[in-house]
Amino acid sequence: MIECVILAAGKGSRMNSSLPKVLHPIAGKPLLAHVLDTVSTLSQQKTKTHIVVGHGAEHVRQTIGTESHHFIEQKEQLGTGHAVQHALPFLKEDSIALILYGDVPLIQAKTLESLIEKVDADSLGLLTVNLKNPTGYGRIVRNQHQKVQRIIEEKDANTEQKKIIEANTGIMAVNTAHLRKWLPKLANNNAQNEYYLTDIIALAVEDNVAIETQQAATEWEVLGVNNRAQQAQLERIAQSNIANDLLNQGVTLSDPTRFDCRGKMAVGMDVSIDINCLFLGNVKLGNHVVVGANCIIENAEIGDNTVINPNTIIEDAVIETSCTIGPFARLRPGTQIATKGKIGNFVETKKATIGEGSKVNHLSYVGDAVVGKDVNIGAGTITCNYDGANKHQTMIEDEVFVGSNSALVAPVTLAKKVTVAAGSVITKNVDENQLALTRVAQKTLNNWERPVKKCET
Ligand code: UD1
Ligand code: CA
Repeated sequence: MIECVILAAGKGSRMNSSLPKVLHPIAGKPLLAHVLDTVSTLSQQKTKTHIVVGHGAEHVRQTIGTESHHFIEQKEQLGTGHAVQHALPFLKEDSIALILYGDVPLIQAKTLESLIEKVDADSLGLLTVNLKNPTGYGRIVRNQHQKVQRIIEEKDANTEQKKIIEANTGIMAVNTAHLRKWLPKLANNNAQNEYYLTDIIALAVEDNVAIETQQAATEWEVLGVNNRAQQAQLERIAQSNIANDLLNQGVTLSDPTRFDCRGKMAVGMDVSIDINCLFLGNVKLGNHVVVGANCIIENAEIGDNTVINPNTIIEDAVIETSCTIGPFARLRPGTQIATKGKIGNFVETKKATIGEGSKVNHLSYVGDAVVGKDVNIGAGTITCNYDGANKHQTMIEDEVFVGSNSALVAPVTLAKKVTVAAGSVITKNVDENQLALTRVAQKTLNNWERPVKKCET
C-alpha cells in the first residue's frame, strides 16, 4: 500500500504573492493539482493522499477540495522532516510513504512507479538528478564504492561537497516503519536550524538499510517553483509537452512555441492550428478543423471540417460541422451553430441558436435568439434583447431574410420566409411570407445645390 505525502506548507516568499505558492498555476492548473493528478494515475494501490499545509492552509483546502484528500496542518514550518512527522500518525503500518512536493508539479507517474518498485523492507528509494548547476540543492554524498552515505544541504556543504553534481530531488519512497524510527531522531543543529528530512539517509545507512537511487528521466520533471521566473520556465515546459502530445496525435501546429493550452483538448484527424491560439477549459476539435491565428477558444465543441478564421473568440459554444466562423467573431456563452452556419466578421452572438445553413456575415449582434434554417441576417442587424430591466427572445424562423441595418426589438417573432427591408425597426410579430418595412419613404429632389463655403472678407 502506498501512502502519498505531499509537502505544501511553505510560504513561497520569493513568489511575492498573496496567493499560497502551491495554488499558483501552470497550464491553467494549480501546482498542487498537477501533483495530485499524477498521483491519481499511479498503478500501485494507494490510500487517500495526505497534504501537509501551513501558509494559506484554508485557501489551499478550499481550492483543492477536502473530499478526496486528507489535509494536515503544520502550523510552524520547522523543516521538511518536521512536516513529514506531522503526517506520520496518519500513515498505515506496513505501507510505503511516497514523499512529494506541492511545488514540483511536473513529476511523471512512470518515474514514481519505478522508484516505488525499488523499495522493500531493507531499502529506501531516492530520486536524484545530475545537474550542470546544482546550486541550492542538497547533494548526494557517496563513498568510494558509490554507496550513498548522506545528503548534505547546500548551506551546510563544504567546497568539495558543493562540487557534487548529483542533487537530491527531495522525492523519496520509504517504509513507514522506518520513518517512525528515524524521524524522532532528527535534530536541527544545522545552518538553517531545521529538521531536515534528508538526514534520514544517514540514519538509514547506520541501520544497514540500502539507499536505492534512481535518476529522474528528465531534468524538468524534478524542477521546483520558487519564484516567478521558475514558474514561467515550467509553464513553457508544460506547454511544449502539451504541444508535442498534439503533434504526436497528428495535429499541425504552425509553431509549437506559439501555442497555449490551459485545460484539456480532444482532437480529431488532421486538425490544423495557426500561431498564437489559446485553448481554455475543455475544448473538442473534430476532424479537419482549421483554427486561424490569434483565436481564443474556451469550453467549446467544434465539429468536423469547420474553419475558425483568425482573431475569433469563442466561449461555451457548440459549433457543428462545416461551419465558417470569423475572422473577428465573438461567440459568447450559449451559442450553438448548426451545420454549414456562417458567422462573419464583427459579429457577436450570445444564447443564440443558429440553424443549418444560416448566415450572419457582418457586423451584427444576435443575442437571446433562435434562428431557423437558411436564414440570412444582413450586415448591421441587431437583436434588441434588453429593455433596460429584462432580456427578451427573438424568434427568426426558416428562410427569413433580414435586410441590413435592421433592429429587431424583442420579444418579437419573424415567421417563415419573412423579408425585412433594410433599415427597419421591427417591434411587432411578422407573419409568414410578409414583407416588413418601417423606414420613411425616399424623397428625391431635382437639381439640388449643395451649400458652398463662405469666404471671409
Ligand atoms: C529540499 C531538500 C533538498 C533538495 C530540495 C529539492 C531538505 C532539507 N532539503 O530543500 O535536499 O535538493 O528540496 O527541491 O529536505 N515544507 C513544508 N514544511 C516545512 C518545510 C518545507 O511543508 O516545514 C515544504 C515546502 O513547502 C516545499 C518543500 O517542503 O514545498 C521543500 O522545502 P524547502 O524549504 O523549499 O526545501 P529546500 O531548501 O528547497
Ligand atoms: Ca524548495
